[in-house]
Amino acid sequence: MTVANEKIMAEVIEGLQEPQRRLSCKYFYDKRGSELFEQICRLEEYYLTRCEMSIMTDNIEEISSVMGENCVLVELGSGSTKKIRVLLDSLKSPVAHVPVDISSKFLMLEADELRRDYPNLIVYPVATDYTKDFTVPEITEDPHHTVIYYPGSSIGNFTPEFSRRLLSRLAGASGKGSGLLVGVDLKKQRDILEAAYNDKKGVTAEFNLNMLRHLNSLLGCRFDLSGFEHHAFYNEREGRIEMYLNSTKDQEVQVNNTCLNFTKGEGILTEYSYKYSIGEFHDLVSGIYRPEACWTDPEDNFSVQYLSVV
Ligand code: AVI
Repeated sequence: MTVANEKIMAEVIEGLQEPQRRLSCKYFYDKRGSELFEQICRLEEYYLTRCEMSIMTDNIEEISSVMGENCVLVELGSGSTKKIRVLLDSLKSPVAHVPVDISSKFLMLEADELRRDYPNLIVYPVATDYTKDFTVPEITEDPHHTVIYYPGSSIGNFTPEFSRRLLSRLAGASGKGSGLLVGVDLKKQRDILEAAYNDKKGVTAEFNLNMLRHLNSLLGCRFDLSGFEHHAFYNEREGRIEMYLNSTKDQEVQVNNTCLNFTKGEGILTEYSYKYSIGEFHDLVSGIYRPEACWTDPEDNFSVQYLSVV
């Protein structure tokens, strides 16, 4: 086993041995997991992607005006280039696009496509885990400011405490005069939220279970996929969707040299997805970012917010 995989194995075992067993949501995204996530984004029930995209297209002139000229656009977590293209097509003289992602394969593909379609733009991919140490690379001496683009409400997959630390670090790394354009999913009725994470076609269930398949092939774990089932609900008190893989029977799972005993109904926490009101999100970033503008869809399902570094 590689040193990197040994580290992952240790982290996986540690999480699975905690009183509330847990696995990090970063393990969703192998090739199959990324494909399933793309499918989720197209689901009827998963309003997030659709709403964010319509907010972007409906308000693109205002958004690009508040972002200003000559910006270096740092995009956290790459994926489909659809949203970034909406921005690039309307921004005034963007200097560079810096896609940042842990998976260098996706990054390079995205970078090649964008270089081809935007020949005057510097495209500078950075393969790193932006939740750890991340610095904005010095790409140009031309006058510019940095705008961090963090779409998709991915910020909701961290606890508020961690999100605040991360955003504070990002603000420090981008400097005064810089900004953050962030997609934030909003609090709403339970039934809409729960439907988004329990779609009828079962794609989210498959996405959740795929984490075990991923760990089986990456680390040689012996999870029996038929022994676990998807469970997701809205925890209103905490303001978050919680996603679990529940054991359907009493069972033993061998992970490396460790044998784990699951009782029927016992769950592994795989993801939190926090939902905020606009005010709560502003409180979360207070002292770090100043809210400049906020756009929502007509139903107030989702928000796109522009904030500047304090
Ligand atoms: C990536 N992230 C913002 C998604 C979310 O909604 O929290 C991941 C996801 N999990 C289940 N469906 C989608």
